[in-house]
Amino acid sequence: MCGITGYIGHREAYPIVINGLKRLEYRGYDSAGVMLFDGQEMHLSKTKGKVADLESIISKSPDKKLGSIGIGHTRWATHGVPNDVNSHPHFSQSGDLVIVHNGIIENYDTLKKELIKRGYSFKSDTDTEVLVNLIEEVKKEENCKLGKAVQLALTQVVGAYAIAVFDKTKPNEIVVARLGSPIAIGIGKDFEEFFVASDASPFIEFTKDAIYLEDEEMAIIKLERGVKVRKIKDDSLVDAKIQELQLSLEQIEKGGYDHFMLKEIYEQPKAIIDTYRGRMLADEGIIKMAGIDDHIEKFLNADRIIIVACGTSWHAGLVGEYLFEDMARVPVEVEYASEFRYRNPIITSKDVVIAISQSGETADTLAAIKLAKSKGAFVFGVCNVVGSSIARETHAGAYTHAGPEIGVASTKAFTTQITILSLIALKLAKKRGTLSQTAFHMYLQELQLIPNKVERLLQIDDHVKEIAKVYKDATNCLYLGRGFNFPVALEGALKLKEISYIHAEGYPAAEMKHGPIALIDENMPVFVIATNKGHYEKIVSNVQEIKSRNGKIIAIVTEGDIVVKEIADHVIEIPDTEEALTPLLTTVPLQLLSYHIAVMLGKNVDQPRNLAKSVTVE
Ligand code: AGP
Repeated sequence: MCGITGYIGHREAYPIVINGLKRLEYRGYDSAGVMLFDGQEMHLSKTKGKVADLESIISKSPDKKLGSIGIGHTRWATHGVPNDVNSHPHFSQSGDLVIVHNGIIENYDTLKKELIKRGYSFKSDTDTEVLVNLIEEVKKEENCKLGKAVQLALTQVVGAYAIAVFDKTKPNEIVVARLGSPIAIGIGKDFEEFFVASDASPFIEFTKDAIYLEDEEMAIIKLERGVKVRKIKDDSLVDAKIQELQLSLEQIEKGGYDHFMLKEIYEQPKAIIDTYRGRMLADEGIIKMAGIDDHIEKFLNADRIIIVACGTSWHAGLVGEYLFEDMARVPVEVEYASEFRYRNPIITSKDVVIAISQSGETADTLAAIKLAKSKGAFVFGVCNVVGSSIARETHAGAYTHAGPEIGVASTKAFTTQITILSLIALKLAKKRGTLSQTAFHMYLQELQLIPNKVERLLQIDDHVKEIAKVYKDATNCLYLGRGFNFPVALEGALKLKEISYIHAEGYPAAEMKHGPIALIDENMPVFVIATNKGHYEKIVSNVQEIKSRNGKIIAIVTEGDIVVKEIADHVIEIPDTEEALTPLLTTVPLQLLSYHIAVMLGKNVDQPRNLAKSVTVE
């Protein structure tokens, strides 16, 4: 996810654009840039780093701040590592056009090859630079205006985008377009000025009148003339409604949610889609992952896979162990990176190490990677931040496309990590012949249904909130799960601990009788993941054991369950899916539960005490 913003009107554009980027920085923060048009020239300033770094660079060149037209961008890299040249805005080859883009052009490579044949050269590795040159080529070929060129060019594009494009030869207009990524157009009095942005936060103090583009719509914004909204596919006019904004600035930055954590819980359906998009072709029965494909022999010949991670990422790694061993029959060990790095582990060149990290900056995980590499292991990274230290340190990897995760409590990172691990496990299973074609296809089809099932699951938020009310004053909680959902029990306990400060422990359900059952009494809420999958009758027995000791039972069950419903104090029903994919669903109610309890207790949900989003120290 990136942030784009722009201004065209009678004011100095620079303060509006740079402050707008600061308000959009939650959307992406690995590099930033602005273009200001002073009436003659377009002045471009861009850099790796944060908006503040950009600001200090521009402060040294006052001439780069002039003009009443400008566009800006704060980046969350998807193609091309974060560096100055890959930062936006990007110029076209002629230098007449400039673009900022939020999204992913999936067929950029094909388009780039065609443009190179037509004499274009490229400075960056980005898909965005391909798009601005495609627009330029169409404009030349069709001898048309910018708006028409954008419309025609986008009919050749596959992917997601929110773009703002400016042509210095026609400096009284900005063209924007949207597919899959948001764009808001702020409308000034008497059309004397216009604002464009990923959300309304950059212009909320200037105007409350806005048009939100719908998918596959574009707009030609002309000074003194107004906004013409059109359909991209056929250039037909759209009767766009001007809305009067009611949201506060703070609410807008959080997408209307009260906290980033809740926003990120609700972003999971899209994050899972974005993570498997372009990698899983369910209908064709294909999984494409360059980081695996290019090193497939390493994986197929490995004696074992060692997964190293911390915290929530470690829990995802545990799910990965169950996935790899169950599907691909590959021996797996899951290690806390902080332990692995110091316990003098036995590592050989026949080992494949998978390092999982949302931030890509966790010091213990980075150290574990370096140790594994020093002993000859092949190291594969699963990160959410493009160009992060771990992404650069590993031999290969796959990015989760969850977008920035701002809340300290990791949510969408966990489910997208499991998505990546599921794809790897399925890919290896197919290669090793340990999964039948039928089973393989069934898993792909089922994985494709998961986002909708998560979407459906999010509708139970109010029900979870009612349960949270009952148990918000507990001082100790237990989380139980079996098989694929044992790691989810651990994850649910961590979520509660870290944002509500209530002590919670996760356990394998069967482990209860080896000690923890002594804790059970009427004051002990027990959250049990009791989906009707493998060992169902065993988990039912565990639930009965708790009941007979007056424990309070909150059970996550498969829709339609009647057995556990008879015993538990509360049930949360989740859609049915394959056992191996249930963690993608059972996690969601536990995330919501910890969120609501923390809010009810008045805790700082997004920045809990003593914690940091990325633990870059030992
Ligand atoms: C999880 O909610 C915590 N924020 C924490 O345990 C986190 O998962 C851990 O620090 C690992 O971070 P990483 O994924 O960025 O490496």
